[in-house]
Amino acid sequence: KTHTAVLIPGDGIGPEVTEAVLKVLKAVEAPVEFHPHLAGLTAMEKHGDVLPESTLDAIREDKLALKGPCTTPVGKGFTSVNVQLRQKLDLYAAVRPVRSLPGVPTRFENVDLVIFRENTEGLYAGVENDIVPGVVTSMKIVTEKASTRIARRAFEYVQKRGRRRVTAFHKANIMKKSDGLFLRCAQDVHDAEFPDVEYDTFIIDAGCMRLVQDPTNFDVLLMENFYGDIVSDLAAGLVGGLGVVPGANIGEDTAIFEAVHGSAPDIAGKGIANPLALLMSAVMMLNHVHATQDDEACKTAASRIKQAYNQALADGEKTGDIGGKLGTMGFADAVIARL
Ligand code: NAI
Ligand code: MG
Repeated sequence: KTHTAVLIPGDGIGPEVTEAVLKVLKAVEAPVEFHPHLAGLTAMEKHGDVLPESTLDAIREDKLALKGPCTTPVGKGFTSVNVQLRQKLDLYAAVRPVRSLPGVPTRFENVDLVIFRENTEGLYAGVENDIVPGVVTSMKIVTEKASTRIARRAFEYVQKRGRRRVTAFHKANIMKKSDGLFLRCAQDVHDAEFPDVEYDTFIIDAGCMRLVQDPTNFDVLLMENFYGDIVSDLAAGLVGGLGVVPGANIGEDTAIFEAVHGSAPDIAGKGIANPLALLMSAVMMLNHVHATQDDEACKTAASRIKQAYNQALADGEKTGDIGGKLGTMGFADAVIARL
């Protein structure tokens, strides 16, 4: 069976890494047909809208998308395409596995974290107001509904995958009501539904300190939107950087797969961006299709790609950001050669 998915190449390095990933998917004969749609600056230029309704409708129809990064201009009145997509499609769980890779030397060897970031509210609700000249507010919205469902996702994941523990990062000592509610929901989900899964909490600043001191002490991390954004990049730094960390934005029946990194304007157009983060996101997509539709061909394609990129890295075939010499397509070809 051939599955259909929307493809959003995105801005900056987006089209480059997308092309590389498509080449690998084609080589492995992944049973997915892509429908290209625009979002981001390219959509703005063509349709006068960073997130055209036609793109949203296409994702609603396919319920699956692979997405490159989209630039959000600072201070020009745009709401981030990424935040909009997640909110409009209610993709409430950002799932970001952060793992050590063969041939990518870093301070710690056995990092294996999965970040569960609430993806629809918190400080990214986008409710900002000018109060009087020189004074603005930014509202942090926390609901029991969103906090409960993201906590449930994290605990379910630990249980299904046979992992160890959920750790919630928070600042409920200061933000007693908002983070307090988030924390109470996580505790309630634990007590009522997953009493046998280990659960603990860290005040986020101290948690970050412990994370960089020894990430191997952590397993699954649960946090609200803003903290999750920052901690994802921090955690990426522990395993080789933004070029190697994939992600999924998952709702009830729709999912968008994209790397944690942005459009990297500093290296865009040079053919040197690492396509691995998006390739890993594509592997997550294939595994997601396998898990939700029981398609063995997707599982096979996913594991072949994973095995091939691990082999490429172990052979020293890698891009500049992680200490190699290859460009974007050079790495894709090295993976293809090992399929
Ligand atoms: P960024 O993630 O684009 O880049 C940060 C640093 O990491 C840069 O030095 C960049 O060269 C490097 N980097 C990122 N991805 C890489 C890759 N695949 N290979 C090699 N090096 C890589 O973050 P930045 O510069 O803060 O944001 C740029 C734009 O991206 C902004 O407009 C931002 O809003 C947008 N953005 C979009 C995201 C998305 O579409 N999901 C996520 C994060 C940022
Ligand atoms: Mg981010």
